[in-house]
Amino acid sequence: MTSVELKVLVFGATGGTGHLILKHLMTVSTPQTVYKVTAVARNPSTLNDHPDIQNPNLTVAKGNLSDEEQVKSLVSLHDIVIFAAGLGILDGQKPNEFYSRSAKLIYEAINETQKSNPNRLKIKFVCITALGLCNDPERMYLLYKWTIKRWFQPCYDDMAIMENIFLNNNDDINYVFVRPAYLNNNIPDKELRVDMDGKFPLDEVNGLGWQLNRNVLAKFIVNNCVVSDKYDKKVLGVTY
Ligand SMILES: NC(=O)c1ccc[n+]([C@@H]2O[C@H](COP(=O)([O-])OP(=O)(O)OC[C@H]3O[C@@H](n4cnc5c(N)ncnc54)[C@H](OP(=O)(O)O)[C@@H]3O)[C@@H](O)[C@H]2O)c1
Repeated sequence: MTSVELKVLVFGATGGTGHLILKHLMTVSTPQTVYKVTAVARNPSTLNDHPDIQNPNLTVAKGNLSDEEQVKSLVSLHDIVIFAAGLGILDGQKPNEFYSRSAKLIYEAINETQKSNPNRLKIKFVCITALGLCNDPERMYLLYKWTIKRWFQPCYDDMAIMENIFLNNNDDINYVFVRPAYLNNNIPDKELRVDMDGKFPLDEVNGLGWQLNRNVLAKFIVNNCVVSDKYDKKVLGVTY
């Protein structure tokens, strides 16, 4: 039986969520479809202790999202691009162009690759942004609105530009944006809820969601956004 190889590129692979995305990607290959993963790291040795580092389906590439040539060359060699990179707590509160600049480079790379080879598989961009982009006053706690939302607004403003680069594009570029709430590693795994309008999930039984853990987010991204086309061209809000 011949198998299909899908090449997956992960930006932010050394981060909390990226690390777990690698772990879940290593579990989804089947005899029919093999996922060959390239983890991008500014400092590749950071991944030396990853439990799957010896897996033949995992390769580590040195790369920086600020390096245009590097980003474009890496993207052009892959079928699925996952973005799990982010700024830390301090840089996220300052005006920045980290997300929009990265998105512009990745968009251009996908577009150029698809246009120069129209017969190749379409490249999919699977990207983590944040529920801070939700501005519906009825879908957020007041405490959150006056604290975290305000502190990280510079980050959310730039992430909004990032999403808009892909939304409603006329270049047939596929994407999924996943907006998680507060990522908390100290809470147990449980099923997450998905809001199809990119808002904080709300229902009568569980109320308004506000957090989830990184492992559940990573598993959702791999099983529902990478392996499945169920959420293609959607912006999702995800919480417990
Ligand atoms: N934390 C939260 O509560 C929260 C809530 C909602 C959304 N989010 C979003 O969720 C995503 C994942 O969050 P996380 O907390 O798991 O991430 P994280 O642990 O902060 O990891 C960030 C990653 O981004 C990488 N990175 C930063 N600058 C880079 C650059 N110039 N080039 C290449 N890689 C770069 C880091 O690489 P190095 O190892 O080289 O530094 C690291 O792998 C982020 O987009 C974040 O904004 C987070």
